[in-house]
Amino acid sequence: WPAGARRDDGAVVIGGVDVRDLAAEHGTPAYVLDEDAFRARARAYRTAFAQAFEAIGSGVDVYYAGKAFLSVAVARWAREEGLRVDTASGGELETALRAGVPGAEIGLHGNNKSDAELHRALDEGVGRIIVDSMVEIDRLAAIVRERGDGPAPVMVRVTTGVHAGGHEYISTAHEDQKFGLSVAPRADGSSPALDALVDAVGRPELRLLGIHSHIGSQILDADGFRVAARVVLGLRADLAARAGALVDEVDLGGGYGIAYLPGEVPLDPARVAGDVATAVAGIATELGTPLPRFSIEPGRAIVGPAGVTLYTVGTVKPITVGTTDDGGTFVRTYVSVDGGMSDNIRPALYGAQYHVELANRVSDAAPVLVRVVGKHCESGDIVVHEAYLPGDVTAGDLLAVPATGAYGRSMASNYNMLPRPPVVAVSDGGTRVLVRRETLDDLFALDQG
Ligand code: LLP
Repeated sequence: WPAGARRDDGAVVIGGVDVRDLAAEHGTPAYVLDEDAFRARARAYRTAFAQAFEAIGSGVDVYYAGKAFLSVAVARWAREEGLRVDTASGGELETALRAGVPGAEIGLHGNNKSDAELHRALDEGVGRIIVDSMVEIDRLAAIVRERGDGPAPVMVRVTTGVHAGGHEYISTAHEDQKFGLSVAPRADGSSPALDALVDAVGRPELRLLGIHSHIGSQILDADGFRVAARVVLGLRADLAARAGALVDEVDLGGGYGIAYLPGEVPLDPARVAGDVATAVAGIATELGTPLPRFSIEPGRAIVGPAGVTLYTVGTVKPITVGTTDDGGTFVRTYVSVDGGMSDNIRPALYGAQYHVELANRVSDAAPVLVRVVGKHCESGDIVVHEAYLPGDVTAGDLLAVPATGAYGRSMASNYNMLPRPPVVAVSDGGTRVLVRRETLDDLFALDQG
């Protein structure tokens, strides 16, 4: 079992809590978040990168990417483990602030930040605003001028042309997509990225901290980061040559991949940190520039494996889906649970694969091929495309889907007017509700009749 242990009677235990007790107390579906696992993963990333980059004479700040999942408690945990918080909207920013994270330890991203979001960031002294376009550079400079404050600390998000990660929609550094400014040179050697950096250096309203690159998500080796680092450090040297400003910081983004299925090998933080640090040290020597300070923004790798979703089985329906060569039939058993694409859109959106286990007991029944589906009125409402469960799985059984801590609750919807499940933290045998279950009253509170 990837996320905990089983009791002698077969029930899964997470953070010392029996899932049957969790289900009885909090209902299902429920997101269960193992606090100790979250903290341990946050520490592992922070220490692995700190050690590797200190060894080359640089340093690293680790920003937890709140888009993966953020609540007030989780932002606090991240901070307690020495991480900063990366936010991508006014709502995420507010969550970090309510957790007591100082503005200086927060970054604000977004390709279309509103004026209100920019004002809030400036009000709170956000440590870095990552600008994503020339329009935004203008807009932010105008806002700072109008406010009459000191210069706003900015990084410029660039696209390095590196494609990395699991799925087209989550690979963000290639050219035909909305994020960042391209480093690809024009005929005269200039580039949108270099132009934006030169422009930012020359603005009295902005203090250019450095260059930001995020190459994708669910990345399973260090190669993409190394290539992107080379491009970014080259760009930094070009900026120094052109504008006389050697910026102090480089952010390599998030994207560190995790295991979703048994047998998959996640990215090892110590290994990737070491590989990237060695590469950047070599590149800086080649370029003859001193090393900048680095930062990274892992989200999924911190919270993904710390989360498990619990569901209750409602119906079990064997469906003949074909015939076998020897004239037999091929049956897939559809197991319907009490949630679905509203609590985890990733299978429908990205074709993401998950693992599932019977969680309330063990069974000797022969395994059958199942598809775990939700309760939405849509045939793409799949929780787990393909898995084996004991053949006696039945209504009332509990199923656990591991590695759902990232981009589950944060991308949840109310499709079909389903109230969103709670997030229940477990630690040392105790539970604490981080986000309570929505009720129909919550939903009707928005409906003006
Ligand atoms: N930094 C930036 C600028 C990002 O755009 C992202 C993710 C991250 C950090 C964190 O990436 P992570 O370490 O979590 O991979 N909804 C998709 C993932 C979208 C990621 C978008 N950006 C999914 O469910 O797979």
